Amino acid sequence: MNIGEVLITADEIDAKLKEMGDAITEDYRGKDLLLIGILKGAFVVMADLARHIDLPVEFDFMAVSSYGSATKSSGVVRILKDLDQEIEGRHVLIVEDIVDTGLTLQYLLKNLQVRKPASLGLAALLIKDGIERPPLEIKYEGFHIPNKFVVGYGLDLDGKYRNLPYVAVVSDATVPTP
Ligand code: IMP
Ligand code: MG
Repeated sequence: MNIGEVLITADEIDAKLKEMGDAITEDYRGKDLLLIGILKGAFVVMADLARHIDLPVEFDFMAVSSYGSATKSSGVVRILKDLDQEIEGRHVLIVEDIVDTGLTLQYLLKNLQVRKPASLGLAALLIKDGIERPPLEIKYEGFHIPNKFVVGYGLDLDGKYRNLPYVAVVSDATVPTP
């Protein structure tokens, strides 16, 4: 299996996360912010983004799995690990690695909204362009990328490549087809 073109370098990611972190610091100053990372993919973004936020944030994680093939989301989401804490009255920011169909996030937003947070925002490092998706307000977004399967910086193919410090394209031939 071959890793193709590097789409976003480690330095570019770091600069973008600093911008996002600065904006979050401004917006949530004086508020009690809880970051929720969506496992497993978002753990890398969460770790690096959080270190660019100059506030006493708290962390929690959810793990979800969407039914479907390895590379296509079905929108039917199963919660594998729920939050450790209540979020009623809290300012919550969901941190995601990538928004593809947006179905996972649509489900999560609905699920978390019911728990009555004071606010519920969304930060995503990557957004795939050229995809029809439900309207999602992504308050803090990193990069728009073409509709290709990518790996690295938390994103996997078959469980691997999450540790690459950059985001790279996997050549189509190597992506399992549904
Ligand atoms: P969505 O529900 O289609 O927006 O995608 C949800 C999840 O699919 C993301 O959080 C990723 O874990 C995974 N995913 C989507 N696109 C890619 C990709 O290009 N590479 C690796 N994982 C992806
Ligand atoms: Mg994934």
